[in-house]
Amino acid sequence: MNDQELMEAARKAAETSYSPYSRVQVGAALTTKNNQVFIGCNIENASYSLSMCAERVAIFTAVLHGMKPGELSKIAVAGKTVGDQWQSCPPCGACRQVILEFAESNKTPVIYQVREQVKSVPIGELLRDGFTIPSPTYL
Ligand code: THU
Repeated sequence: MNDQELMEAARKAAETSYSPYSRVQVGAALTTKNNQVFIGCNIENASYSLSMCAERVAIFTAVLHGMKPGELSKIAVAGKTVGDQWQSCPPCGACRQVILEFAESNKTPVIYQVREQVKSVPIGELLRDGFTIPSPTYL
């Protein structure tokens, strides 16, 4: 699936967004090493902080279906306000950390719109020095 097709899948996924509070509809679509495609949408809650981003819904769904760390090939994200046009929607910081956990490499493309332009940016550029579990040096 090329970048444009993946972005189209992300936009389609945004249609299922449950976002009555922000009215921001976000969709994500990813491909895996085995050429599987998984999608996600944002899911909000009356207790606002319990809301979940589209990217993490897509990634966690992929994990449920067997995706392992190092197997996320690329991910596209799309977002808009209800009734409006597609807008800038780069992934949030928390999602960047989760993408990095499963990405094939630092070069794994993240596709998203900024103003009028759709960009493809390596995850390592979006999140430099992401968190890893510190290993003890005394072992
Ligand atoms: N949201 C995402 O789905 N992905 C992001 O990377 C950032 C924000 C959602 C969460 C919430 O439902 C809405 O966008 C407004 O913040």
